[in-house]
Amino acid sequence: MKKAILVLIIAAAVILLAMQWGKSRNGDDAATTTTRSTTTATTASTTDTTPMPSFTLAQVAEHATEEDCYTTINGLVYDLTAYVHQHPGGDRNILRICGIDGTAAFEGKHGGERRPEQTLAGFEIGTLAQ
Ligand code: HEM
Repeated sequence: MKKAILVLIIAAAVILLAMQWGKSRNGDDAATTTTRSTTTATTASTTDTTPMPSFTLAQVAEHATEEDCYTTINGLVYDLTAYVHQHPGGDRNILRICGIDGTAAFEGKHGGERRPEQTLAGFEIGTLAQ
């Protein structure tokens, strides 16, 4: 009889220990997951809030060639180098705004046109310093 009670107590203790172990393991996993998602969220928000680089007009002017063409339109700066020879309206129309403020030229031709404005947005590299 005594033996049976002893065996029961040991079995209960083993079950309790096993339950405790399982709990702490789940707890660890949950903690790891939380840490991971917090890290991800922090990284994502850092990326989102990173400001675009700012260029002065003098810096834009340093990129005024066919092989290196920056322009600024409505306060944003664009690297149009890859687009010079892709422009459906000819390379000359892009080349004449390399290194200068191209707002008037662009708006004069494409102001309010969806496709040119979307294409332009793909080449944005920063903002124009005030
Ligand atoms: C800055 C002076 C510019 C001038 C004078 C100019 C002129 C032209 C001309 C004559 C065309 C031919 C078709 C049409 O008449 O619509 C054209 C088409 C086009 N341009 Fe420009 N362009 C300029 C700048 C740009 C820039 C900076 C971009 C974008 C990065 C751009 C994107 C386009 C696109 C996407 C088309 C095709 C439009 C379509 O098929 O719907 N252009 N452009």
